[in-house]
Amino acid sequence: MRIATTRPGSGTIAPRARLRSDAPEQSLDGNWRFRVSPSLRSAPADWRDGDTARWGTVEVPGHWNLQGYGSPAYSNVQMPFPVDPPFPPDANPIGDYRLDFTASAAVLAHGRRLLRFDGIESAAEIWLNDTLVGTTRGSRLTHEFDVSGLLMEGVNRLAVRVAQFSDATYLENQDMWWLPGIFRSVTLLARPDGGIADLFVRADWDHHASEGILDVAAEVDGGGVARLVIEELGVDVPATGSLRLAGVEPWNAEHPRLYDVEIRTGTETVSLQVGFRRVEVRDARLLVNGSPIMLRGVNRHEHRPRHGRVFDATVARDELLLMKRHNINAVRTSHYPPHPDVLDLFDELGFWVIDECDLETHGFEHVGWRGNPSTDPAWRDAFLDRMQRTVHRDKNHPSVIMWSLGNESHVGANLEAMARWAKSVDPSRLIHYEGDRESRYVDVYSRMYASHDEVREIGEEVLRPARFDATPAEAHRLTLPFLQCEFAHAMGTGPGGLEEYWDLFEAYPRHAGGFVWEWIEQGITVDGPDGGSRTLYGGDFGEAVHDGNFVIDGLVDADRNPRPGLLHYAAVIAPVVIDVDPGRTSVRIANRFDFLDLGHIRLQWSRVVDGAVTASGTLTAPPCGPREAVTLELPDAGRSDASAEVADVLTVEAVTTADSPWAGAGHVLASGQHVREGRPPVPPRVAAEATEEGIGAARFDVATGGLVRLGDLEITGPIVGVWRAPTDNDRDQGTDELDLPRYAERWRAAGMDRTVTRLIDVQPGLDEVVVRTRTGTPILDSAIDATVRWSAVGDGAVRLDVELEPNAAWTTEWARLGLDLVLAGEPLGADLAGYGPMHSYPDLRSGARFGWWHLDPSELTVDNVKPQESGSRIGVRDARIVTEGGTLHVSALDHSFALTVSRHSRQTLAAAAHNWELTPEGRTFVSIDLAQSGVGTATCGPGVLPRHRLPARPAAISLILRHERTPD
Ligand code: GAL
Repeated sequence: MRIATTRPGSGTIAPRARLRSDAPEQSLDGNWRFRVSPSLRSAPADWRDGDTARWGTVEVPGHWNLQGYGSPAYSNVQMPFPVDPPFPPDANPIGDYRLDFTASAAVLAHGRRLLRFDGIESAAEIWLNDTLVGTTRGSRLTHEFDVSGLLMEGVNRLAVRVAQFSDATYLENQDMWWLPGIFRSVTLLARPDGGIADLFVRADWDHHASEGILDVAAEVDGGGVARLVIEELGVDVPATGSLRLAGVEPWNAEHPRLYDVEIRTGTETVSLQVGFRRVEVRDARLLVNGSPIMLRGVNRHEHRPRHGRVFDATVARDELLLMKRHNINAVRTSHYPPHPDVLDLFDELGFWVIDECDLETHGFEHVGWRGNPSTDPAWRDAFLDRMQRTVHRDKNHPSVIMWSLGNESHVGANLEAMARWAKSVDPSRLIHYEGDRESRYVDVYSRMYASHDEVREIGEEVLRPARFDATPAEAHRLTLPFLQCEFAHAMGTGPGGLEEYWDLFEAYPRHAGGFVWEWIEQGITVDGPDGGSRTLYGGDFGEAVHDGNFVIDGLVDADRNPRPGLLHYAAVIAPVVIDVDPGRTSVRIANRFDFLDLGHIRLQWSRVVDGAVTASGTLTAPPCGPREAVTLELPDAGRSDASAEVADVLTVEAVTTADSPWAGAGHVLASGQHVREGRPPVPPRVAAEATEEGIGAARFDVATGGLVRLGDLEITGPIVGVWRAPTDNDRDQGTDELDLPRYAERWRAAGMDRTVTRLIDVQPGLDEVVVRTRTGTPILDSAIDATVRWSAVGDGAVRLDVELEPNAAWTTEWARLGLDLVLAGEPLGADLAGYGPMHSYPDLRSGARFGWWHLDPSELTVDNVKPQESGSRIGVRDARIVTEGGTLHVSALDHSFALTVSRHSRQTLAAAAHNWELTPEGRTFVSIDLAQSGVGTATCGPGVLPRHRLPARPAAISLILRHERTPD
């Protein structure tokens, strides 16, 4: 076996379209005999014909290292072995696969037979009945071999030797797990004489004439012309040339109208679904069917936590339905063509797709791009082969609007050759490649993680008069629409700054949206010793080279449960924007669909005062076309008055009126609110004895001046806190501050994680106790003075008036400014009036609504695979925190606070590498934050925007605390 060439695979038939045919097929998926050797040199020579009695078995499709043969490994840009192209390392698992099978009579009935592999990582040599069939390169690409003369009646022996690493690894250094094996299906295909060898149907839409245009090229084996039949339209014509069709509807991602088409010869019928649409660039805008479109996208890897990149039809469909329910309308197939059936789902459900070639040479970045295959003629055919396999397989899918050359492969003539080839074969789609910064051979200007400022500048540059000194490349780039193929890195608590990005995308006509990195967290699930399961990331399998938890960075977790970032993103990209005017006389409804009017939604409103619905109804909306807005009057019953104690909230929601494939009627697309904060009654002070040991229900520790009990509730604090358990974003460096240490380091250097509080004095007065403390940082002299006035207000409640005053010595921004309390017992849940239900921070709050929310214990914080700060709820005015030890009722007298209730201390969270390392601490950690920093997206992209940072500053708040008995 040769695994150090620079060539594509060998022996395959020319790449062609994936077609649904009535010709016989036979799946060879199932249990195959299998063994693995540690290197090619040590792999036994008898793999094609030797006895397999002592071999094991593996499931095909599958990855062997997720089936007990070795273990997975994760690295991002770093190559897991020396950069020594085209050589893989000697230590290179070699998987030998064997299958003895009987070909079905239906397949054997045809003289021509193909053997198809839809995905083998990374290189394979294939033998049938002891004859070499060919080799593969391009792990996520289909390879078909003509086995007509080799396939026999009776038992056939298929032997496949797969190398985990090969020359191909240099072209497949995507940021994901190394998962070798035959991981997509293996199929035998009968090819009837006179059947359809290949087919390219281009379904164009002429938006001027409102007509569809079908351009059909059908290649019939042995010559001859097929027929094209569209029963629905009464079409039955020769399948050749161009055909105009009046009275058809166009396809778009919002209304994915498909037509069933059959291409028939005397011996074979293939069926496909076409959608009429035209993709264009005009005046630096991305247009489909003549209208500008907005890509509300995600980057989608194929991942299942126990099966890696092995496809499951139900999982894939459910996943796309979940995207649709969260307003996502676009997918970049990062960084390889997905399983072929996913394309059918994109067409059917309606997604704009950037179909990306299986190519990434990112590892060469670590050596200054020395030897990058993108520039080396020796690799040219391999590059072209990959592009050809991508385009041919998927060329009949209306959802695909752009071909992407690959990811992060720097620049070079081979990339340019791919672009030219693709454009010549398929001028109906745009070429995308982010690495071509000069945009010389692409049709869109694509970037990743460009900052907000840069996105603004890119939007503005095309609005200015053309520069006379622009180079031809610059002049070309200025004619292109802009998109971010990656932005807002969804790692850990985040991504912050989404709304600010989206405002820019909406503001500039050049901008066509973007794709959040990334859809799914690629954690690997294994059984834990306790019978439970554990999610693992890079390094957990003992890899010598790895990138830790950088693979855990999705909007959904590995089991596809939505994480808060998805909920906020859904609100940011909502296709309807609802703005209630502060006087509640009217509401403005903006339609951000690119094609649909608002005929399919209903507007419903409700007014909730202090948790009770006082009025509700439906608004009748006048017609509102795509990208238009209407203003509606609001009924009097929705207005606010001054009676609320907590809040008076008017919510207007846009809900669907009919079922769709992804959501039943009544699905909430978007909502808007007006919140009028209430005026809680100020409880009068009651007479109570004030001593150094407490006042009313509050009992103090004389040594610290802090609480030890409130009524019967064991409670300590409040302690002033300015730190948080660093998030992934806090631990990384934003692109906007490359010369500064990461926030987590700045906080550590400033001693913020180890503050020490000193009691200044306790002054009992007539009806209050004033406790003054100073919270300082070790090593340094930065400090915050706190003055807490305690008084009794009846009913066992106490009032605290807190004033916090920092000195001038703080050198770095804070994570937050809060009062920390610790309650006895594990948390049992919380009820709060504030923004929720998901967690929110100043720059990550778009999806949060003011409400009266109940949170179960598991909803208090986010179960991040790598523990970190999470769970804050902003704008809280009233909360009951229920623990095993009792219930603490906190209400704000003046302004709201952000509340975090956690079963773990910040120190514990910061020290843990995995969620499964955390054990119950038997306490409940409560923070009442007067101010907070945003979270940003520094793991890739900018950190916290300046407006969401928190420089040292004074603050004050008045609260009522009360112990309530926990209901049984
Ligand atoms: C990008 C890359 C992605 C992923 C991301 C970080 O540079 O294209 O594959 O690595 O960064 O998670």
